[in-house]
Amino acid sequence: MTAFKKVKWGIIGLGNIAHQFAQDLTLVSDAEIVAVASRTIDKAQKFAKQYAVKKSYGSYTEVMKDPDIDIIYIATPHDSHASLTIKCLEQGKHVLCEKPVALNFNEALQMVETSRANNKFFMEAFWTRFNPSLQEVLLKIKSGEVGEIKYINADFAFNVGTPSERMINVQNGGGSLLDMGVYPLFLAYVILGSPHKVLASANFYESGADKQTSMILQYQNAQAVLHSSFVSPSNMVATISGAKGRICLNSIWHETQSYSVVKNDQVVDYHFPTKGKGFTYEIEECHLCIRNQKIESEIWSHQNSLDLIKIVDDVREQTKLKFPKEK
Ligand SMILES: NC(=O)c1ccc[n+]([C@@H]2O[C@H](COP(=O)([O-])OP(=O)(O)OC[C@H]3O[C@@H](n4cnc5c(N)ncnc54)[C@H](OP(=O)(O)O)[C@@H]3O)[C@@H](O)[C@H]2O)c1
Repeated sequence: MTAFKKVKWGIIGLGNIAHQFAQDLTLVSDAEIVAVASRTIDKAQKFAKQYAVKKSYGSYTEVMKDPDIDIIYIATPHDSHASLTIKCLEQGKHVLCEKPVALNFNEALQMVETSRANNKFFMEAFWTRFNPSLQEVLLKIKSGEVGEIKYINADFAFNVGTPSERMINVQNGGGSLLDMGVYPLFLAYVILGSPHKVLASANFYESGADKQTSMILQYQNAQAVLHSSFVSPSNMVATISGAKGRICLNSIWHETQSYSVVKNDQVVDYHFPTKGKGFTYEIEECHLCIRNQKIESEIWSHQNSLDLIKIVDDVREQTKLKFPKEK
């Protein structure tokens, strides 16, 4: 691929997030959506028309075989992330797969191994890692702006009312933990690394999916108190407290456009408006890696995804959250 050629995208699974992602793809000058794929052709055609996409497919396998496509964005329920990613990589496509990377660590490891075996780029679409405010905050923490980090408080919670089938179906890997809880876990991980110990407790729907999960990550010199919920709203501000001050990622923190540093009773606000919804940055990272023949991002690496899903596994071990497909 020359530096002047557009990166050609395919999209699999044309639900809520695929629409938002497609809008952001149109904001990246060297991106082109070449084809979209749904389980039903009518839906694919409607989506294609909306975003002026040339090709629409009524099955996922057709898009994987399309020789015009460089990279496929997978936006399907959690239980299908591993199998679809592996199939795409084996068909010679690069892959950006929605979070959570997979149902569990073992699935994620197979995805990473397939990326390596086929020499194709693969990244979990952890867009928050590329959020401009978070990038700044991580640099500030590294430079010691608020001292050694001792405490993180983050949640992702709202009252969804009647949740969609996908959200509470354990066959799909539903529940608040995999849908939303991965974000607060991500924040603790990206700042403090993997914890020594995980404590967690959850309440469940009759389906077996978790309604709400509370987690404490224990580190040598720090703690993170985290929460995810489908049944009650929160202000969705994340607080990162160090020995010399604290940083607040403003609501909605995982896609924030601003943050504040509080030190000695002085508050300083910083604003970083995102380009589009904010998926643009992970898209640009995919392009950079593909153009440089890299199979993983240094910013959100294979190991980062493996570490994060391992923490999710540890939470699930505590809460006894089971997914039937894992048996
Ligand atoms: N990055 C973010 O901010 C963000 C936000 C929300 C969700 N997500 C993630 O994005 C993924 C999709 O979430 P979403 O909110 O877009 O879900 P959604 O609206 O339910 O869409 C999922 C799509 O997956 C396809 N699909 C394949 N098998 C399915 C099945 N058994 N049941 C239902 N749908 C199935 C369907 O597309 P077709 O009918 O076209 O085949 C469906 O429209 C999940 O991994 C979720 O965690 C990320």
